[in-house]
Amino acid sequence: MAATLTAAARRSSASLTSLLLKRHASTLKVGVIGAGRIGRVHLETLAGVPGVQPVILSDVVEPVLKEVTAQYGVPNYTLDGDEVINHPDVQAVWICSPSQFHADQIKKCAKAGKHVFCEKPIATDLNGTIEAIKVADEAGIKLMTAFQRQRGRAHQRHPPVP
Ligand SMILES: NC(=O)c1ccc[n+]([C@@H]2O[C@H](COP(=O)([O-])OP(=O)(O)OC[C@H]3O[C@@H](n4cnc5c(N)ncnc54)[C@H](O)[C@@H]3O)[C@@H](O)[C@H]2O)c1
Repeated sequence: MAATLTAAARRSSASLTSLLLKRHASTLKVGVIGAGRIGRVHLETLAGVPGVQPVILSDVVEPVLKEVTAQYGVPNYTLDGDEVINHPDVQAVWICSPSQFHADQIKKCAKAGKHVFCEKPIATDLNGTIEAIKVADEAGIKLMTAFQRQRGRAHQRHPPVP
């Protein structure tokens, strides 16, 4: 099961980079928030996508940041996620922090005009999810999430949407 989830997360990550690379002819510069389990999965994927360059990584644990930036060759790190979002070179932010921070970080990215790949969930409740999507829409940024069970039978509507 873990391998399936990891594979789904990798496919989602690669799919947004491919879309954004079509829009940004040159290198796509990415910032990553959260260097835990799934943050590393996405850094691994990003390392294999031509034209994508992670430029800054944040977490709240400095030894983790030192280890992960060295492992994936990320040139900068910070303990403050806002510095990732507002980094002048960053065009898209990969949000891999714990779930309770996602909605606020999406809205900050929208305000800064940065595209977003956000790990599931977008928010921890329905209203927060709707609001974050609305803010992203109004700002005109791309917002993609990695909900690896979206096609799972248990999560389909009944009757299923054709
Ligand atoms: N799509 C999937 O298959 C999948 C799989 C696993 C996790 N997730 C999602 O990814 C998110 C992270 O999960 P995980 O398993 O990597 O957790 P984790 O605990 O392994 O990693 C979270 C990391 O975020 C750091 N962190 C804590 N507060 C932070 C903050 N304010 N800013 C930046 N970093 C902060 C922690 O120090 C830790 O290194 C969760 O929302 C989870 O639901 C999705």
